[in-house]
Amino acid sequence: GASTKTRILVTDPIDSVGIDALRTYGYHVDVASLTPSQLLSEIPSYHGLVVRSNTRVNKEIIEAGKQLRVIARAGTGVDNIDLIAATKQSILVMNTPCGNTIGATELTMGLLTALARQHSISGVHGKTIGLIGLGRVGEQVAQRCLAFGMNVLAYDPLLSDKAAKARDIEPATLNELFARSDFISIHCPLTPGTRGILNKDRIARCKDGVFILNTSRKALLDLDAAYEAVESGKIQGLALDIVPSSEHPIFRHPNVLCTPHIGASTKEGQARVSLAISHQVDQALRGQSYSNI
Ligand code: MLT
Repeated sequence: GASTKTRILVTDPIDSVGIDALRTYGYHVDVASLTPSQLLSEIPSYHGLVVRSNTRVNKEIIEAGKQLRVIARAGTGVDNIDLIAATKQSILVMNTPCGNTIGATELTMGLLTALARQHSISGVHGKTIGLIGLGRVGEQVAQRCLAFGMNVLAYDPLLSDKAAKARDIEPATLNELFARSDFISIHCPLTPGTRGILNKDRIARCKDGVFILNTSRKALLDLDAAYEAVESGKIQGLALDIVPSSEHPIFRHPNVLCTPHIGASTKEGQARVSLAISHQVDQALRGQSYSNI
């Protein structure tokens, strides 16, 4: 009967294709947008939790999840999940890092060209872009920037000089990148080490009139420092695809282009992510295989 089914809770919007798949696999699936306290009282009866970035899966929630075996992020960033708390309870944390790469890339390219056109009469051809992070999205952005005739610098501590050069990308230290880039785009995960990677001090080291894009995580860029720099003209144009906090004045500045973290939200991307997560969750709960852990 239904009471013996393995139970999965989905608390952020994901494409229905994955929810249907989970039900077809035989799981009991509940889809609900919950407040933190509702989640805290609901979580004890579930074996799997599927989220995007709106649900904060903190220590308290994890410790209350007595039967929880899998926390699944339908997307890439896992900074909203307390990985240490999950590991202590032997709960698997997984993501789907491939499904929405192209969506994030295409939005970045749109914002890049829009930013250049909104604030100057020149385009991006012949200009230098510095990419902070050359992972899945960074690499796709790099390829497209090269196709646009830009010079591409990249800072990525995990990237070998040889691998970068093989892709016509110039490896750079952060300082070189700040000194030389006309455009800077952030494509790294949010970790304790990257929080505020673009802070007041580093913005000061950028070229006067730099264009900055953040289609990654909000906390990678210090918004107060960025606001000050946009006001002074140090930053000529800023594009943000981050979960907005509407009270910050930066979101109303005429030189700032904002989208509400929709990079991943193409129909194709969300269907891919949703199918991938349903498959991964099923495999893991059945002990068959463990991917993207
Ligand atoms: C991600 O990390 O994949 C993004 O936050 C996309 C999303 O789920 O909205």
